[in-house]
Amino acid sequence: MDPAKFESDIKYADQAEFGRKELAIAEIEMPGLMGIREEYGPKQVLKGAKVSGSLHMTIQTGVLIETLHALGASVRWCSCNIYSTQDHAAAAIVAAQTSNVFAWKGETLEEYWDCTNKMLTWPDCDGPDILVDDGGDATLLIHEGVKAERHFAKTGELPDPANFDNLEFKQVMRIIRDSLKAGLTQKWTKMANNLIGVSEETTTGVHRLNQMSAKGELLLRAINVNDSVTKQKFDNIYGCKHSLPDGLMRATDVMIAGKEVVICGFGDVGKGCAMAMKNSGARVVVTEVDPICALQAAMEGYSVKKLENVVSTADIFVTATGNKGIIMAHHMAQMKNNAIVGNIGHFDNEIDMDGVEKYPGIKRTEIKAQVDRYEFPDGHGVIILAQGRLLNLGCATGHPSFVMSCSFANQALAQIDLWENKDTDKYAKGKVYKLPKELDEKVAKLHLGALNAELTDLSQEQADYIDVPQAGPFKHELYRY
Ligand code: NAD
Ligand code: ADE
Repeated sequence: MDPAKFESDIKYADQAEFGRKELAIAEIEMPGLMGIREEYGPKQVLKGAKVSGSLHMTIQTGVLIETLHALGASVRWCSCNIYSTQDHAAAAIVAAQTSNVFAWKGETLEEYWDCTNKMLTWPDCDGPDILVDDGGDATLLIHEGVKAERHFAKTGELPDPANFDNLEFKQVMRIIRDSLKAGLTQKWTKMANNLIGVSEETTTGVHRLNQMSAKGELLLRAINVNDSVTKQKFDNIYGCKHSLPDGLMRATDVMIAGKEVVICGFGDVGKGCAMAMKNSGARVVVTEVDPICALQAAMEGYSVKKLENVVSTADIFVTATGNKGIIMAHHMAQMKNNAIVGNIGHFDNEIDMDGVEKYPGIKRTEIKAQVDRYEFPDGHGVIILAQGRLLNLGCATGHPSFVMSCSFANQALAQIDLWENKDTDKYAKGKVYKLPKELDEKVAKLHLGALNAELTDLSQEQADYIDVPQAGPFKHELYRY
């Protein structure tokens, strides 16, 4: 298609060549996705499928997008974070016309939600057939749209963004109000009805899906990609182990060895973060609410403390809880001068950005993009990374290709399964499913060769003895790895 007519909204289209060179390198590091291309490409298993995606527009995501395209899908994409787009990746995808892309690094909230809207709005039809989501923003917009359209049909009332405190929600309501005002009174309802399902990437997004499912509010079929072992126990742990120090160092170039580093939350992400900091020579302190995770941290040799007891001695603070209100303005008011504060959980509410911005007498100085120093009236300051949003994607380039290949192989398999079962009752609307263990093991296997890892063959006699099929799955469903 004539490039001028190909729909996209990106910055720096001139970086396409650089993006293509990095995509070519990433492909070699992503044997899971390339194996899926090889196996399913000739069969064109996604032929005819319209796939919309809301997931960090990075080089690694570019390889996922081009895998979906190679399997026959038409693709529209946006990022799930205002700071995470790698503009050269977006440029290369648009130049190759393998997906319409609406994303750039440094979007405003208004631009972010406009991009999400464009990614979901397909020309001349009701919307996508299948959705890839990371954190649940696209899923949220569709569901809020349906709610507002039902309310409008009953009362004729439009949603008013001014009625909402949350800045993101104001934007969601603006988008929905504007489509209703334009006379599109069934846009989101039709989209939800048309949509076969969603595959969700991350812990926080899965949590949202499970909540909606439990309340009977989930309108879609859903696959929980996060809880595939080859996602959760690799991306969340080893991915963060790599990309936390990368983000910290690119942002501040601070010496980590010897420093006191507090990791809030010792789930999968926290475990990877703590490991990285320990390996860098830091003295690591963990905060936890869950006694099991607290005990795990203690037995790994970390100090387990309340934040209040280390807030004035530590040098670096990283939140990894998926919860809100973890590091508050009053905590930052007590920190050492130039303590570094960052978040690696999905949203921006682990760190009380609103409280810091409104702290009486606070002075913000931008050191560089995504690195700000907030100076308190007593003269001490804290350095906050990526405005409290994912520091590994805001200040660096996220996880490296090899580990994302594990996550995204699960995404591709989930999309294939949703599409292939669009007319069966394998997946029910309103329910959240995991991929079967056979596929999890298949994803792992696709990555072993690249690491020269050799699998031991299980004899039939041994398989019978431990009561598993000789060709796997090798563990029962509840095994914890
Ligand atoms: P998890 O549920 O395994 O771990 C979160 C931990 O935080 C739990 O152990 C929980 O007990 C603890 N916690 C909750 N509230 C707390 C509090 N007030 N103080 C201290 N600890 C508390 O989740 P996870 O898989 O580790 O994911 C954590 C977050 O990171 C999620 O938001 C997830 O979406 C996100 N994530 C980010 C990336 C990335 O690249 N940045 C990658 C994967 C996941
Ligand atoms: N999440 C964490 N790292 C990522 C990356 N490099 N690309 C896409 N999503 C990610």
